[in-house]
Amino acid sequence: MKQFVRAVKITGTGSFLPEHIITNEHLESTVDTNAKWIYDTLGIKERRKAAENEATSDLASKAALNAIEDAGLSVTDIDLIIVATATPDRLAPSTAAIVQDKIKAYNAVAFDIAAVCSGFLYGMSVASQFIATGVYDNVLVIGADTFSRITDWKRRDAVFFGDGAGAAVFSHGNNDEGFLAFRLYTDGRGKWNYTIPAGGSEMPASEQTLEQGLHYFQMNGKEVYKTGTKVLPIAINQVLDDTGLKSADIDYMIPHQPSIKILQKTAEIIGLPWERVLTNMDKYANTSGGTIPILLDETKRSGKLQRGNNILFAAVGSGWTYGAALLRWS
Ligand SMILES: CC(C)(COP(=O)(O)OP(=O)(O)OC[C@H]1O[C@@H](n2cnc3c(N)ncnc32)[C@H](O)[C@@H]1OP(=O)(O)O)[C@@H](O)C(=O)NCCC(=O)NCCS
Repeated sequence: MKQFVRAVKITGTGSFLPEHIITNEHLESTVDTNAKWIYDTLGIKERRKAAENEATSDLASKAALNAIEDAGLSVTDIDLIIVATATPDRLAPSTAAIVQDKIKAYNAVAFDIAAVCSGFLYGMSVASQFIATGVYDNVLVIGADTFSRITDWKRRDAVFFGDGAGAAVFSHGNNDEGFLAFRLYTDGRGKWNYTIPAGGSEMPASEQTLEQGLHYFQMNGKEVYKTGTKVLPIAINQVLDDTGLKSADIDYMIPHQPSIKILQKTAEIIGLPWERVLTNMDKYANTSGGTIPILLDETKRSGKLQRGNNILFAAVGSGWTYGAALLRWS
């Protein structure tokens, strides 16, 4: 009989980025923006763009197979697939169901999570509940987005996002390792600060929505900055409180990658030396659901993570959604 509450750890990671690179200099030549401003303010040099025949599920499936291989498992070992995405292949069925078919993981239940930039963090937490309670043994969580599909490339907010996918396999571990705490939050009063107005039940796609570009994302950058720098420290301080750890005990922070300035301000508020905050937005920009698992995969493969390291995850996204998690690496 399975134990009722079990420790949960990450046993494999993977990522996949499309080949095509769009530099700041290229955007400078197509929209009213400035390459230096983008790098200095957002920390971004370039981003990736999926090919026309590459959907979110294609990026997700490649990241997923890398993670399953890294965990030493086969696709048939996966009990549950969660895809965190704000750019699903279709409104129905879920991108997770499409990924299940593409990777042939037919033993797995599959569903999507819609929490935009906090999606992978929410997915991690859901995966952990299923493993902790003994319901499932191996859960695959994928964060994948193709924001290039919902970007108006004629507007200067084309600078913020990139396409990409990351994945991790969650399995049970020993009691002295794995996840120590999760805190998730939602505040739906923020729903207008980042939104894709058309294409859903409230405003179905029509000739008019197409003409007005309402199928593209709209973002209030000032509010994202103000809210991000307020709520990230709240969530982080809460998981530190939950575990009795101090910011000095954090070896690495693997955060969502909204902008370098949001992360610098957050690190300053929580008293975490900047060297411990990991970033890769210079190469990929904000890949939304993909940011945390892509960075986790790169960090793991670089050999940086040591057994016993305390890793802090944190994210803020549209909704508002936000949260933090602490993991003892093993
Ligand atoms: C986007 C952001 C940098 C804008 O700064 P701000 O001070 O709030 O916004 P403003 O509209 O007043 O613009 C300030 C300056 O930046 C410039 N600017 C804003 N967006 C720009 C862009 N895409 N390219 C070039 N310059 C830009 C403005 O022209 C202005 O310049 P000026 O002072 O010479 O007039 C800031 O709001 C931010 O970092 N937000 C977070 C965005 C984010 O992380 N989004 C992704 C997560 S969902």
